[in-house]
Amino acid sequence: MNNKIVVKVYPDKEQAAKEIAAEIAALIRARAAEGREAVLGLATGSTPIVLYKELIRLHKEEGLSFKNVTSFNLDEYYGLPGTHDQSYRYFMNTELFDHVDIDKAKTHVPDGTVPADKVGEMCAKYDADIKAAGGIDIQILGIGRTGHIGFNEPPCAADTRTHQVKLNELTIKDNARLFFHDKIDEVPTSAVTMGVGTILESRKIILLAWGDGKADIVRKSLMDAPSEMCPASWLQKHSDCVFAIDAAAAARL
Ligand code: F6R
Repeated sequence: MNNKIVVKVYPDKEQAAKEIAAEIAALIRARAAEGREAVLGLATGSTPIVLYKELIRLHKEEGLSFKNVTSFNLDEYYGLPGTHDQSYRYFMNTELFDHVDIDKAKTHVPDGTVPADKVGEMCAKYDADIKAAGGIDIQILGIGRTGHIGFNEPPCAADTRTHQVKLNELTIKDNARLFFHDKIDEVPTSAVTMGVGTILESRKIILLAWGDGKADIVRKSLMDAPSEMCPASWLQKHSDCVFAIDAAAAARL
């Protein structure tokens, strides 16, 4: 096995978020000094909220500008418009974009409302837009208890591109509990997600995981040989990937 993942264990998620936000801020400022864009890959879910809070603080208190930031989110539920309060576009607006000076025209989230026969075209354009922006500098990831990154549920090959996926039962259940007021019938059954291959093309990847609920899957992703049955394990093939995790998520390493 050729696992190059760097594991950083923090006492708590706030300290992890502080350090990662500082790294993102340094990238944004370095690019701004060169008159260039910083391209961020962003995730939704409960995990990155603490990071977005710190980025907002850096904007409000330390003058960090997002004017030279282009962003690409990992995924979106299929069937939800950006105005739906459970859509990932809505999440990004309320948790980050509305609170900083980013140009929303440069923030990309897959479109969950395109008709079924146009999904393939939209996905191909998403990948092309990432390339045209120069590729992703830093991709932020969470991890699902199935081992999914983005919404790439197992089994998932390492070379998948942005595509439509069916959501796994456990993911639907977790999402109902966390986000859909426990109403399992309201959770969409499919989503559009960047593929694992798309994610692996990012120059740097930072996966975040907090709490003991993630300890088993963190262990599996780091310790088992890369396989379709744990999409996050493909990250072992990346040459600049960090797992930034709290002590509870690291408990089984
Ligand atoms: C969200 C995403 C998912 C989440 C994962 C963990 O954009 O791509 O892979 O990162 O489901 O979700 P939380 O953070 O809610 O535990």
